[in-house]
Amino acid sequence: MRNKVIIIGAGAAGLSAALELAKNNINSIIISDMPSERAQSVMAEGGINAAMYTNNDSTELHAMETFTAGKDIADMNAIKNMTKAAPSIIQMLFEKGMSFTLNDNGVPDVRAFGGQSVKRTFYAASNTGKQLMYTLIDQTRRYEAEGLVERMTGWRFLRLIYSGSQAYGCELINCITGERKTLYGKVIIASGGLGGLFGNSTGSVRNTGTVTANLFASGVRFANGEFIQYHPITARLHGKNMLITEAVRGEGGRLFVMRDNKPYYFMEEKYPKQGNLMPRDVIAREEWLLMKEGYQIYLTMQHLEKKVQTEKLQGVVEDCIRFLGIDPTKEPIPVEPGIHYFMGGIWVDINHRTSMESLYAAGECACQYHGANRLGGNSLLGAVYGGYVAARSAISDKNIEITEQIKMRDYKINPKVFDRNLIRLQEILRKGLGIVRDESTLSLAENKIDSLIESVRKEQDEPLIECCLLGKAMLMSASARKESRGAHTRSDFPKENTDYQKQTIAEYTNGQI
Ligand code: FUM
Repeated sequence: MRNKVIIIGAGAAGLSAALELAKNNINSIIISDMPSERAQSVMAEGGINAAMYTNNDSTELHAMETFTAGKDIADMNAIKNMTKAAPSIIQMLFEKGMSFTLNDNGVPDVRAFGGQSVKRTFYAASNTGKQLMYTLIDQTRRYEAEGLVERMTGWRFLRLIYSGSQAYGCELINCITGERKTLYGKVIIASGGLGGLFGNSTGSVRNTGTVTANLFASGVRFANGEFIQYHPITARLHGKNMLITEAVRGEGGRLFVMRDNKPYYFMEEKYPKQGNLMPRDVIAREEWLLMKEGYQIYLTMQHLEKKVQTEKLQGVVEDCIRFLGIDPTKEPIPVEPGIHYFMGGIWVDINHRTSMESLYAAGECACQYHGANRLGGNSLLGAVYGGYVAARSAISDKNIEITEQIKMRDYKINPKVFDRNLIRLQEILRKGLGIVRDESTLSLAENKIDSLIESVRKEQDEPLIECCLLGKAMLMSASARKESRGAHTRSDFPKENTDYQKQTIAEYTNGQI
């Protein structure tokens, strides 16, 4: 039982890890509150990047464009490993039956995505995540039938079991009965992003960041928390931002505001070369400036060919009609920037080992590959590849031996206190870590978190306090980075500064961040 690898999360990174372990005859157990079909990876729309088929493309160019979009602070060696593996990942998915949109030659088609000089984003209409997940789920089932992969669905990670800098396993809680269970073994964290810590985002509201927060409070390093990707084309819904895939811009969609009663295509005017296909951080900042002047941003796809609208972007048309009451083939879509992805996360090395022994992290919860800004289409790639690398590391590391009893202190939870105070925390973080920050908004938010921690301590809910500590670490990271770089824009330090061409690392030791 102790040599079974515990995987927290049933999305793309978690399944990729389970598959690699199973191929090597290593048992794993996947823990998730929801089945894989409801993982956030299913929500990915636009595509997955790989340099293959397109003339003048190469895995080196893919690496360079990933590094450049990330504003020179990601680990270039890790990126090169990922981009080199990308073509074989697409090949594997295709061979395993993933439904890609095909071109006229019957091979997977590629589309243009922001920040990339060539077309290298493979896709399945606007449901790439769903099709990718069906394929990984299908593959995993074979191993489930053989008993190599087990699942505990309806259970959540509660806390890490560790001593010093050695992880031994984790404590889980049943989502319905509240029963607790301890599992021992190496742990791969694949718990996704932190959208739920902020409230309105394009991701799953269930990803409240409690796993990352518990690890952080247990002394595991957290990196680059200040880099939060605001996706430039999302539509506000109650309590959520609906993603309108970047594929709309990739297929020729145009952003504009109404100025003097006519459309003003602000991206095309200011950036004539890449226009609407500039990286996400640049567009989100331009939108923010216009919105500050009172403009409403619109995205139009009315001029696109019927075939593109109804086939390649079918999901977008359906979602806009169903959720916004707007037919985008006939009228423009009002959009705004919305929180979409966290470039930062649990610190990992090039092999996805965290700062604690026998603990690994992959996918959006980890800090690897994207630096200060992620290229669209690199998240599914990073998740599938990262899960594979984390599994390889778990396979090669020595097995855990427990020689002493691991004493863990009492851990109190109170879901009502959590829900009530999470809303307060979300509001503080949204205000403190908006698209544009400055010292006064950041320190105001830090003070508010300190007061929230004080009030919650009396009510005894450990997960909420841990989420507050994580949120505070993100604010402190943003405050420490006295420059503007990628998705981190400081109005009081508007320029990039080479002194800060490095990662930010936060650690919680002796009760201090
Ligand atoms: O816009 C999108 O379809 C998002 C893709 C991504 O974040 O990689």
